[in-house]
Amino acid sequence: MRLSTFSPALKALFAQLCGWGAVWLLGQSGLLPGGVWVLAFSQAVTATVAAAALRCARWWLPIHLVFMPLAFAAHALGIPPGVWLSAFVLFALIYWGSYRTQVPLFLTNRQTSRAVAGLLPPGPVEVLDAGCGIGSFLAAFARQRRDARLTGIENAPAPFAISRLRAGKHPAISVIRGDFFAHSWAGYDLVYAFLSPVPMPDVWKKARREMKPGSLLVSNSFNIPGTKPYRIIEVADRRRTRLLVFKIPAM
Ligand SMILES: C[S@@+](CC[C@H](N)C(=O)[O-])C[C@H]1O[C@@H](n2cnc3c(N)ncnc32)[C@H](O)[C@@H]1O
Repeated sequence: MRLSTFSPALKALFAQLCGWGAVWLLGQSGLLPGGVWVLAFSQAVTATVAAAALRCARWWLPIHLVFMPLAFAAHALGIPPGVWLSAFVLFALIYWGSYRTQVPLFLTNRQTSRAVAGLLPPGPVEVLDAGCGIGSFLAAFARQRRDARLTGIENAPAPFAISRLRAGKHPAISVIRGDFFAHSWAGYDLVYAFLSPVPMPDVWKKARREMKPGSLLVSNSFNIPGTKPYRIIEVADRRRTRLLVFKIPAM
């Protein structure tokens, strides 16, 4: 298996190890001048070069460049280890599988939820928020459409707990903890996805395989490569959200 095909997290780990390997070799050969900062910056530069050679996404490069110098600087501050551990646990609970799914947490605003709510005809409808975060889309949608039954699926523990709490105020909302790829989308009239470019091809495959003809997949911001949306909605919000609406074709 080629290294460039490894997951982003594995490639990042490998780049960091390459950095340390190179620094160790330079140290052994006597080419590296002494000093902690020389060590940190040499590791950072080699890790960055290794990340580029592994074809990591471009935004990983500045992270590798500052990672070890910042770790050394943070260590020099003498902050108790418990603080770092708490911060790590907090971020892990919020971002959980992001290293694998490559989907971070960001939130849908009310104008966008309203625009999505307007896509469905009046009457009882079933809506799924695939990756519901802290339930922002679900709560706004439930206020807009009292005739809708809403389901949210979320895999990160902290956002899941918050969306569950918020759902307590809205009897029409249910929130499930898990992977939305592992649940059937067959019963939904609309599936909403605010994710990242990475899962979109698989999201589209699943929608076509399971959703009924004529139902809608709405992607906030991220297109599906090689597929033309049936409609694009420009939301008049500050971030100029684009909603890409895909209609499930008949088989
Ligand atoms: C960009 S946020 C969107 C949150 C929410 N839909 C909103 O619009 O406010 C994406 C969320 O999807 C979750 N997520 C990503 N992949 C997932 C998966 N396969 N199964 C369940 N949740 C997932 C992430 O944990 C994150 O909370």
